[in-house]
Amino acid sequence: MSSTAVIGLQWGDEGKGKIIDSLADGADLVVRYAGGNNAGHTVIVGSDKYVLHLIPGGILHPGTLNLIGRGLVVDLEALLEEMDGLIARGVPVEERLRIDGRAHVIFPYHRHIDGLVEQWLGAGRIGTTGRGIGPAYADKVSRTGIRVADLLHPEFFARRLKAALAEKNALIEKVHGHEPEDHANLQGRSLEIAERIRALIVDGGELVRSAYREGKRVLFEGAQGTMLDLDSGTYPFVTSSWTGIAGIAGGTGCPARWLDRALAVTKAYTTRVGEGPFPSELNGEVAERLRKAGNEYGATTGRPRRCGWFDAVVARYACEVNGLDGIILTNLDVLSGFGDLQVTTSYRHGDSLLPGFPAEATVLEQLQPVHQSLPGWNEDITGVRRFADLPAACQDYVRFLEQQMGTPIERISVGPDREQILVGEHGQLDLWN
Ligand code: IMP
Repeated sequence: MSSTAVIGLQWGDEGKGKIIDSLADGADLVVRYAGGNNAGHTVIVGSDKYVLHLIPGGILHPGTLNLIGRGLVVDLEALLEEMDGLIARGVPVEERLRIDGRAHVIFPYHRHIDGLVEQWLGAGRIGTTGRGIGPAYADKVSRTGIRVADLLHPEFFARRLKAALAEKNALIEKVHGHEPEDHANLQGRSLEIAERIRALIVDGGELVRSAYREGKRVLFEGAQGTMLDLDSGTYPFVTSSWTGIAGIAGGTGCPARWLDRALAVTKAYTTRVGEGPFPSELNGEVAERLRKAGNEYGATTGRPRRCGWFDAVVARYACEVNGLDGIILTNLDVLSGFGDLQVTTSYRHGDSLLPGFPAEATVLEQLQPVHQSLPGWNEDITGVRRFADLPAACQDYVRFLEQQMGTPIERISVGPDREQILVGEHGQLDLWN
């Protein structure tokens, strides 16, 4: 029996797509458990680039089943577009994809409200992806949401949709002064899409549990990152789901105690998209160089990512709350030629050094990062495949991060291709055991 989770250690965009793709190679079932099409997982296969938003990262592998777990919010139009895009490129999506009927649906009114609320918040906005994620999760918690399986019962669905729209349209018209959403078109179109995906809708929890019981390899695919987690992250500048290890049981129906291995992906520096605290953030020339070298533009929205040094306080905190077995370090190649590198090792607030990662966004915005300077390296490392062949300063940088996190670095990625990866000095050859 074997289950492995791969999650994000920072604010998302850590390069999980490539890692999940490589682990999916040996997986029988790949399961997304949180978020929606706010995610953007990039996978490069030879000269082909795939960006997955909603569909799990095992979809390109023959023999791997992929489940959109019950913890997701599913935009039906976005799902269809992504399915059709893959089918057009020869991927047998319908053979390899399943959707948990308990997952919630994102309707156009959720996207509409997402934008309106951001406008309403003005300077206090979150900087969401505008995909309707927050409003759909809010409905789930308010018990006014509609689930994927509800679409298979047209009368029940029509009743729920009518009630939801009455409330949403009151908000859209009366509070925000916008045009209401149309009921009949939305109902018809949703049922049309439901027919198309009918055969893919399953009891996802049952699927995961039986796969695990049968000794199959199950890979849980995280989206976003720990610092965007609704509870552990930099609230309120977070997404609306449980992005860390804690989200897996709730978001899939797989018992929490059945997770055998917990891995997280982190960049060798830090990025963040959207608003919110970012203690190790850089501005000016170094930030611009990092953004260019790392091609730091959002895979979903195209927004330029904010860039900063590796923040070991964030990393330690995220290792701790997730209880990790190992780390996968990505984008190490991006740091070649940067000169001396800084790592944030602690935070100063007023006269004192903070003992951990503070809960309050206001404290996070006032604190001063304390840095440790480390020598950089100039060599291109994109062709290196063994830890011992990395430049000495680069090895030391990796060792320093490992020691700061107190967690072994299992893999180091030195470029976007599947092959550009090496086993860390203390890494295991087989990540499934
Ligand atoms: P939402 O998930 O669209 O509600 O956005 C909430 C916050 O999470 C915003 O700061 C987004 O930029 C951020 N976010 C959501 N998904 C991702 C992601 O996949 N990568 C990086 N940031 C994300």
